[in-house]
Amino acid sequence: MTFSRSLKGSIALVTGAGSGMGAATAQVFAEEGAHVAVTDFNHSAAEAVAKDLVERGLSAQAWGLDVTDSAQITKVIGEVTGQFGGLDIVINNAGVSAFSAIDSDSYDAVWAKALAVMLTAHQQIIRTALPHLRQSKAPRIVNIASTEALGATSRDSPYAAAKAGVLGLTRALAVELGAEGITVNCICPGPILTGMTENVPEVDRTIFAKRRTALRRYGSPEEVAHMTVSLCLPAASYITGAVIPVDGGLMARNA
Ligand code: NAI
Repeated sequence: MTFSRSLKGSIALVTGAGSGMGAATAQVFAEEGAHVAVTDFNHSAAEAVAKDLVERGLSAQAWGLDVTDSAQITKVIGEVTGQFGGLDIVINNAGVSAFSAIDSDSYDAVWAKALAVMLTAHQQIIRTALPHLRQSKAPRIVNIASTEALGATSRDSPYAAAKAGVLGLTRALAVELGAEGITVNCICPGPILTGMTENVPEVDRTIFAKRRTALRRYGSPEEVAHMTVSLCLPAASYITGAVIPVDGGLMARNA
C-alpha cells in the first residue's frame, strides 16, 4: 500500500467546474499535479477555467457537460478517458439553488430539477465512470452535498431533500464498492462565497455568519476544495463513507 500525498498524474473529472467551488477544485487539483477534466453546463465558463490553468503550465481540458443528460455523460467520460488515458477521481459538484415553498405552483418543477442535477446525475456519473475507476490504483469519488442535508432552511425542501439523498448515496456506495478499494465520501459545505450566494446582500451575509458560524465568516471556495483534494490523495485510502462538514463550525454551534 502506498501512502503518497501526491496527485501527480492522477486524472480527475469535476462537474460544475465553471465557477465557484468547482472552479476552485479544478484549480487545486491541477496545482497538485492532476490532469483535470473541467466540465460544466456552461461550456464557455469551463473553457475559461481550463485556459487559465493551461496558461499557468498546468494540465486541464474543458468539456461542456449538462449532468442531467445521460448521453452527454457517456460521451464526455468516453472522451476524457480517451484523452487522458483513464479516470481516477470523480467530483460530483454541479448544483443549483432550489428554493420553493411546499404550496408553491412551481414546487414540482423545482423539485424535479433539484433531484435531477444534484442526486440522479451523481449516480449516473458514478455508474458511467465505474469501469474506469476499477482500473485505477487509487479510485476516489467525492460528492458535494451541503449543511442543508444535516439541518434545513424553510422553503428549501427540494434542495435539502436532494442533498440528504447524496448522503445516503455516498454511504451505500462506500459500503458496496469498499471491497474494491474505491472510496466514496461526501463534503457538506456551509456558507461559501460563490455565485450561488453572491446575491445574498453583504449585510445579511455578515449577520448570518456572525450568528451561525464559529469562525464568524463565510468560507472561500478554496477552503472546500482543499478538503476535496485531501479526500482524493492516495494516502486517504482508509477514509470512506464519511460525511464531512466544511462549514466554519456551523453544525457544531448550539447557541
Ligand atoms: P455556483 O453556482 O458558483 O456553481 C455551480 C456550477 O454548477 C455552475 O458553474 C453551473 O453552471 C453548474 N451547473 C448547474 N447546473 C448544471 C448542470 N445541469 N450540469 C452541469 N453543471 C451545472 O455554486 P457553488 O456554490 O460553487 O456550488 C457548488 C456545489 O456546492 C453545489 O452542489 C452546491 O449545491 C454546493 N453548496 C454550495 C454552498 C454555498 O454556500 N455556495 C453551500 C453548500 C453546498
